[in-house]
Amino acid sequence: MPLDSVAVRLLFNPNNTGGIQSLRHSSKLEANKENMSAETVGRLCFRSINALAPMVRVGTLPMRLLALDYGADIVYSEELIDIKMAQCQRVVNEVLGTVDFVAPDERVMFRTCKKETERVVLQMGTADPERALIVARLVENDVAAIDVNMGCPKEYSTKGGMGAALLANPDQIEAILRTLVKGVSKPVTCKIRLLPTLEDTVGLVKRIEKTGVSAIAVHGRLKDERPRHPVHCDFIRAVASAVSIPVIANGGSLDLVKAYADIEDFRKAAGASSVMVARAAMWNPSVFQSGDGNPAVRYDNHAFNTKYCLCQMLREKVESPLGKQLLSAQTTEEICEAYGLQEYYKTTQAELQARRDAIQTNHNDLDQPVLDGDVTTMRVKFERREYPGEYSPKMFLLEWSRTESLEQPQYETVQRSQDRAFQSIVTVAGKKYRSTLWEKSKKFAEQAAAIVCLRVLGLPEGREGEPDSGLVGKRKREGKRKGTADENAAVESGARKRRSSDNPAEQRMGSGESTVPNGVERRSGSVGLPHCLSTV
Ligand SMILES: Cc1cc2nc3c(=O)[nH]c(=O)nc-3n(C[C@H](O)[C@H](O)[C@H](O)COP(=O)(O)O)c2cc1C
Repeated sequence: MPLDSVAVRLLFNPNNTGGIQSLRHSSKLEANKENMSAETVGRLCFRSINALAPMVRVGTLPMRLLALDYGADIVYSEELIDIKMAQCQRVVNEVLGTVDFVAPDERVMFRTCKKETERVVLQMGTADPERALIVARLVENDVAAIDVNMGCPKEYSTKGGMGAALLANPDQIEAILRTLVKGVSKPVTCKIRLLPTLEDTVGLVKRIEKTGVSAIAVHGRLKDERPRHPVHCDFIRAVASAVSIPVIANGGSLDLVKAYADIEDFRKAAGASSVMVARAAMWNPSVFQSGDGNPAVRYDNHAFNTKYCLCQMLREKVESPLGKQLLSAQTTEEICEAYGLQEYYKTTQAELQARRDAIQTNHNDLDQPVLDGDVTTMRVKFERREYPGEYSPKMFLLEWSRTESLEQPQYETVQRSQDRAFQSIVTVAGKKYRSTLWEKSKKFAEQAAAIVCLRVLGLPEGREGEPDSGLVGKRKREGKRKGTADENAAVESGARKRRSSDNPAEQRMGSGESTVPNGVERRSGSVGLPHCLSTV
């Protein structure tokens, strides 16, 4: 989804829940429930989840709701410093329908609402177990879990012994986490960075695991590494295999996570249970969207129209790398590539093909003759372009009847009142044949009935590509050669009658109109033949 429209949603419609996303959430919830053991029922599960990472000033309520809306399973708050939070009062904001944690100076430090209660994790900046517990108890009933930040390398965090400073003080880490795990009913997690050696990192996470935390988020960078440095997936992998609690991989935004499908690739590369995304989500929270609901692909929209609409959305960003890739795309597949939706494109195409095949199979079944009372029916439509020659199925049927010394085929046509469509029955050798489909003209309805008869009898019908049976052409050629019109006359008269029955005025000529009980209007087209509009 283009960023502009996301921004608009952030400003004006943060509560919008797409139906598809809601469905996705509920299925993830089910999955989560499956992962829960008896004693953890109702507690947030951190396995197989995609989370919005904690981000100062970014991870406020609107962004969290938007991320949830797009498909994030869990959303972290921005880091909230324990000293400030501990001074807050819990206030129910009836106007907004939110719960606010308000500082003495009236500033709202943390605002949350019902929609995220079961999915929001409050991240705390703390260096003190007792203060951490006060804050955790204050928010306990309004959040799904409590996280402790042990990775922030910024001075404002480290100078108070918080954030990444804690990494050098594992005893304090243990004390804080044990106090929280013991003191609140909600799951407790922490977010760390890597220590200089793998051994030290693994040693630390093992100690952390023993405190009883429910998960560890690992930002795969060292304390002194900057966000532009590559993430160390191998370290995260080693950590993940050293503990049995879920490890949430983090740090992949710059090099690895550009679109939804990359989140799973990052998870696999890091060998982790779950993934936490910060910058990629800040740049565009629709990164959490699986693409399940992409209507341009799902409804086979014309590629150029899709491209046009997307360019309108990108506006001046049409000059960006994404815009340029979009502009050069010629197909829906190439457009999907630009947005990292290749997998979605492939699966959707496969699904649509499967549906096409299933429908075709159904139609093939319908192509088999079915006896309806004394009438043999088939699902046949007369497509004029499939019979390009001058001979029609009716003529083939007439000729065949003659060669077999049978009576001329008799056509009986009815017209439906609701849409004025026609359906014909042809009687040949005492047997009746009808197409189950209704046609827009009497002429077409008769041709369809003739086709049913010819197909059931395994006879040629004059269709394009059909081997020349010589049946009709031969008669005509012979007639012409002899210079006699007698044999040919029947065909010609049939054609004439056919032509005349094409004439709407003549079609209306039937005086014997009657309405049959099923609401179908029965019309006769030639005087003296009350139930047959024409005989050829
Ligand atoms: C704007 C911004 C604010 C951040 N604030 C926090 C924070 O409050 N707490 C925290 O643990 N990490 C914070 N981080 C770090 C991220 O959570 C994350 O660890 C880091 O950006 C790497 O993940 P990424 O590659 O997905 O961006 C912040 C990052 C950014 C870009």
